[in-house]
Amino acid sequence: MPERAIGIFDSGIGGLTVFKEIRKFLPGEELLYLGDTARVPYGTKSPRTVLRYALESAGFLVGKKVKMLVVACNTASSVALPELEERFSLPVLGVIEPGARKAVECTRNGRVGVIGTEGTIGSSAYTRAIHAINPDIEVLGISCPLFVPLAEEGWAEHEVARIAAREYLTPLMKRGIDTLVLGCTHYPLLKNTLRDVLGEGVTLIDSAEETARMVAQLLERNKHLRSVRAESPRFFVTDAPVRFQRVGGAFLGTPLEHVEQVELSEFRFSPQDPGVALSSVSGA
Ligand code: DGL
Repeated sequence: MPERAIGIFDSGIGGLTVFKEIRKFLPGEELLYLGDTARVPYGTKSPRTVLRYALESAGFLVGKKVKMLVVACNTASSVALPELEERFSLPVLGVIEPGARKAVECTRNGRVGVIGTEGTIGSSAYTRAIHAINPDIEVLGISCPLFVPLAEEGWAEHEVARIAAREYLTPLMKRGIDTLVLGCTHYPLLKNTLRDVLGEGVTLIDSAEETARMVAQLLERNKHLRSVRAESPRFFVTDAPVRFQRVGGAFLGTPLEHVEQVELSEFRFSPQDPGVALSSVSGA
């Protein structure tokens, strides 16, 4: 088991921010990354569709005999985690819980902001995760859909990003948040812009970093850390690799090699599935 790879998946390129942190914490581990680039974005799609996509991505990586799954996508984590845990008999970690835990630890005034895609904010997954630890914390969620294309365009620190950030964050600032969860894979790239707009008084929580920390803890606890240093990571995409290599390389700051285009096997819900699958997100 320890010598197997860690399977990481996302809707596309964004999960590379999580990949990057995992590689920093666990440089010896073999990493397989799947980006569902043919169907990105997930953030604007319905929970049922995202759940189906997540099951297909997870099925692909499980077929590669990975030792654990990291759902490196906030939108997929917010709607698919319980189902993934139920259907696959290996550890599954999403990005919501690590970010939520850190936010609870950091807030001093009990007012936490969460920014993410429409899907993530609509699911209230961060609110549930934070309230499961401390129900007294006030959680204010706002979706910031423009941040994803801005990051992919390489405009994370452009004036346009600053204007968008001011628009999105002003209501959260007015409510006096002292902690902000970056609840989308792309948002760590906007950290400098967000910091400038919010000022020093607000702590930024990077879900990617917290997730990597938890992956390391989990593998160590289960004695599943690799003993022999792994070769280079491998990347799989569901659309032509060229854009993934270009934009993803810019995200990681290093060229992306070993990128292979693959087809995912179709997942079909059985007649009794949908109710079970969607009950976990019905409180949105
Ligand atoms: N990876 C997604 C997330 O973290 C953002 C991009 C998308 O909408 O698919 O929610």
